Amino acid sequence: SAKPVSFKLVLLGESAVGKSSLVLRFVRGQFFEYQESTIGAAFLTQTVPLGDAVIKFEIWDTAGQERYKSLAPMYYRGAAAAIVVYDITNYDSFLRAKQWVKELQRQGNTNIVIALAGNKSDLSDKRKVDFSEASAYAEDNGILFLETSAKTAQNVNEIFVAIARKLPKD
Ligand code: GTP
Ligand code: MG
Repeated sequence: SAKPVSFKLVLLGESAVGKSSLVLRFVRGQFFEYQESTIGAAFLTQTVPLGDAVIKFEIWDTAGQERYKSLAPMYYRGAAAAIVVYDITNYDSFLRAKQWVKELQRQGNTNIVIALAGNKSDLSDKRKVDFSEASAYAEDNGILFLETSAKTAQNVNEIFVAIARKLPKD
């Protein structure tokens, strides 16, 4: 079988939007209603088969709390890909996500692959961010966009596979 090609991926976004939950769903197939807030950052890896290749994601799950904000560049510097997460029930978290996208496009790797994740899609009865608004924003800014749910697993593998498809293979 093929030797994995490794890529560094960072997750960014406001506290409690579900960054750690998305990673735990993707890596371990688990979800916790009482997921603990991340301190500093967490590191996990997961491989994805893609045609003849195997992509190994080296994932930095950052802490969203304001006091850790200054650490973020350490994690996104050198990252080939980023998932910027907001919570579809929290409009402020969408505004914060847009700031992260802008920061990544200015200070991140030149060819960084950015995906926007509108998480908690299972809570559509409490929705505050329209799908169409986020989708138009993503298109205008040349980034991937999916609504996800770490709880139901909707679009979780899909967002990592969509990123893997856009990464350079040689
Ligand atoms: P920080 O580590 O503080 O930056 O937060 P985080 O972005 O890692 O959020 P975390 O994964 O800790 O999730 C926060 C809360 O949201 C937890 O209670 C999760 O169970 C819940 N949660 C995460 N994803 C989802 C989801 O897709 N649907 C629902 N209903 N709840 C979710
Ligand atoms: Mg976390």
